[in-house]
Amino acid sequence: MAIDKAIRLEKLPPYLFAEIDKKKKAAIRAGRDVINLGVGDPDMPTPEFIIQALNEGAHKPANHQYALDEGSPELRRAIAGWYQKRFGVSLDPEEEILPLIGSKEGIAHLPLAVLNPGDVALVPEPCYPPYRSGTIFAGGVPVYMDLAAENNFLPDLDAIDPQAARAAGIIYVNYPNNPTAAVAGVDFYERLAAFAKKYDVLICSDLAYSEMYYEEKTHSALEAPGAKDVTIEMHSLSKTYNMTGWRIGFAVGNKAAVAALAKLKSNLDSGIFGAIQDAAIAALHDESDFVRNQVDIYRRRRDTLVDGLVQLGWKVNRPGATFYVWIPVPQGHTSEEFCTKLLEQADIVMTPGNGFGGPGEGYARAALTVNEDRIKEAVARIQKLNF
Ligand SMILES: Cc1ncc(COP(=O)(O)O)c(C=O)c1O
Repeated sequence: MAIDKAIRLEKLPPYLFAEIDKKKKAAIRAGRDVINLGVGDPDMPTPEFIIQALNEGAHKPANHQYALDEGSPELRRAIAGWYQKRFGVSLDPEEEILPLIGSKEGIAHLPLAVLNPGDVALVPEPCYPPYRSGTIFAGGVPVYMDLAAENNFLPDLDAIDPQAARAAGIIYVNYPNNPTAAVAGVDFYERLAAFAKKYDVLICSDLAYSEMYYEEKTHSALEAPGAKDVTIEMHSLSKTYNMTGWRIGFAVGNKAAVAALAKLKSNLDSGIFGAIQDAAIAALHDESDFVRNQVDIYRRRRDTLVDGLVQLGWKVNRPGATFYVWIPVPQGHTSEEFCTKLLEQADIVMTPGNGFGGPGEGYARAALTVNEDRIKEAVARIQKLNF
């Protein structure tokens, strides 16, 4: 029997990196000295105190059974405490917090919980791809909001077609932003909340990179007065504590949105391994300098890459947050051509900006996930290419 793919899978945009991926794998197989600035996955290990908490949790028999769908009460309390301390935002651990198996699943499942077929989701472009795919899987229609350099990579809310806004069930935003590394102030979240109230649309704020800030602290969308009426925020332990492989994050905010996502998920998964929840509690209670020390390492890497490229005459913004540098490609190249040339002639992997959506054309994303020496080596190789 031939298996036909569901139409919803066929509707996904084509995978743009197939060719570059093939070339990257071939280069690695051939034993070439590849500098991989392509993946947004921390290269440093999870800290020991979190591993220790996992270890202890793994020895508790209660953790060997199905976990509670809505997460352990201790974890929900730890999340509430962390939010209060970090953002000054109060959350009810019973009704306004839902632990997730990584924030990606919350982001991608949310449309199934709150959109009806044909409803619009307002999606920024360039963007983290699950905003788009989650919408498509739920039968929703993504309507894109360009993130342009002239507007500091924030969506221009006044430019959104009012008809699309009225048909929208979700507006996705993500600051600190992947891939542009832009940040948003509370004034932006105030305007966004007013927009969401006017058009009766749920804000989904993706805060995965909140702790990777350099000079100024970043903000939660829930800091805007009244934002909780219209906002669900997705958070992740992945990047902050080097826990991408562990799969733990959480959704917080509007009660009805959190309840809808919880109901959907109770039909799809059976919670998070209890020992991982114990480890997350240890992470959220941590008062050590671990996170700031980690960010200092990324800061030095950021400066090595940005200063190196600026010395070559490139115009590159120094990101205020995230471990990404959003690099305008040299004139005369498309994103794809530039990244292909880097790979073929310098064994450097960067991600072409157009892979995050059309308006990403003209940029490449470099992830600061190799050490400073490797970044220096990458700059030296780029210099030899004489762009
Ligand atoms: C913007 C953004 N949001 C969310 C995630 C997902 O993180 P996780 O599912 O590991 O919590 C990522 C991962 O790269 C991301 O870049």
